[in-house]
Order: sequence, then structure tokens, then C-alpha cells
Amino acid sequence: MASVAIDGPAGAGKSTIAKLVAKELQAIYVDTGAMYRAIAIYFLQEHLDPEIPEDVEKVCAEVDVGITYENGVQQVWLNGENVTARLRTEEVGNMASVSSAKQPVRDKLLQLQRDMALTHPVVMDGRDIGTHVLPNADVKIFLTASSAERARRRYEELTQKGEVCDIQQIEADIVKRDLQDSTRDIAPLKQAEDAFYLDSSELKIPEVVDIILKKCRETKAWK
Ligand code: DC
Repeated sequence: MASVAIDGPAGAGKSTIAKLVAKELQAIYVDTGAMYRAIAIYFLQEHLDPEIPEDVEKVCAEVDVGITYENGVQQVWLNGENVTARLRTEEVGNMASVSSAKQPVRDKLLQLQRDMALTHPVVMDGRDIGTHVLPNADVKIFLTASSAERARRRYEELTQKGEVCDIQQIEADIVKRDLQDSTRDIAPLKQAEDAFYLDSSELKIPEVVDIILKKCRETKAWK
């Protein structure tokens, strides 16, 4: 099946862009970060510690993560409960950043991610899609933006929701998360050799989408 892999750091706009690209290509959008976030919810609710190997094993033995689609929108299931609405909090994101660095957690999700791409045309985003999950993806994009621009986007998103926040703190968190994700031993965030590097700092969303669609149309798989 045809596939597009979009990797990049937190806040680069991967999910917004990937969703729009998937719509244009009539593919499904697979948000792999959401799967790691579902497992993070389990660590949090069971008060288990991702730094303790026995706890990691317990979580991996007990969790069942599933993905379904409702009107084209990905729904994430954790042991039979739809947890989609609970995924996008800072607490869950911070736990996912730590727990996703554990090999058993990654092994647990790898087959689910590959199966999605075997059974549907996909636009999949994450950190290691082009390098590890789908090494033969038809199109690979490494989408990034400066930490200042990513902080500005996040600040706008939060203030629009009425939250009071400090842009400098947001940027500091982004830099910390980047470092954590790119220096970890297991599946670090890294551009695949054959990925197209796309810096969206100065680009508008439709411009980024157009660039990716053009790359797709250049391949046999997405013509
Ligand atoms: O993209 P996100 O913020 O929803 O991802 C949450 C965490 O999961 C992030 O810290 C990195 C991790 N992740 C990963 O290790 N591999 C992926 N393919 C996707 C996300």
C-alpha cells in the first residue's frame, strides 16, 4: 500500500499537515504519538514508573492499544476504553516522552503501526516512521521549524483556549523535549537519509501541504 512518513520534532505541525495531506490523498492519517500517549495514560493511572523495568513489563503485558476511525478521525482505545479526548495534555505528553524511550513499549506498538500501513494507504507521523517503522515508505518528509516558531505556535494555540502561559517557558520545554527525543539510545528522532528536509518556520500551512503533495505526485505510488 502507498505510504507517506512524516517525522520531526514536537510542535513542527506534523499532525495538522499530515491530516490535510491524508485528506487530499484519500489516505488515512495515523498519529503514532497518540499510541504512545495512550500507553502513557496507563503508566499515569496505575502509578507505574517507566524507569523501573518491571513496571514497563507489567504495562506492556496489560495494555491493549487499538485504533479505529470515526468520520475519518482517528480514535485511540486503551483496553477497550476510548481515550482520544485524554491524550493531549502536558502531563500525558511528558510521560509519553519518557515511556516511549523504553524498548518494550516501542516493540508493543511497532506491529500495530506496520499493520495499519499494510492494510490502508497511510500518511503516518511520528519520530521514527521513515527510519524504522516504514523504511520503504514511498515518500519521507522530515518536517521541522525553529524552536522559537514552534513556541510561538504553541503559545497562540494555548492563549486561544484561554490558558495563561509564558512563551519563554514553552520554548525551554520544547528545547528540552527535542534533546530528550533526539539523544535517547532507542529510536532517537533522526532524519532518514532519504527523507526530504522541510523547514516550515517561514511557510504557511497550505504551502507546506502543497510541497508534500508535489513530492507524492512525483512517485508512482501516489500518482
Ligand atoms: O507527537 P507527540 O507529541 O504526540 O508524541 C508524544 C511522544 O511520543 C513524544 O515525546 C515522542 C514519542 N513518539 C515516539 O517516540 N515515536 C513516535 N513514532 C511518535 C511519538
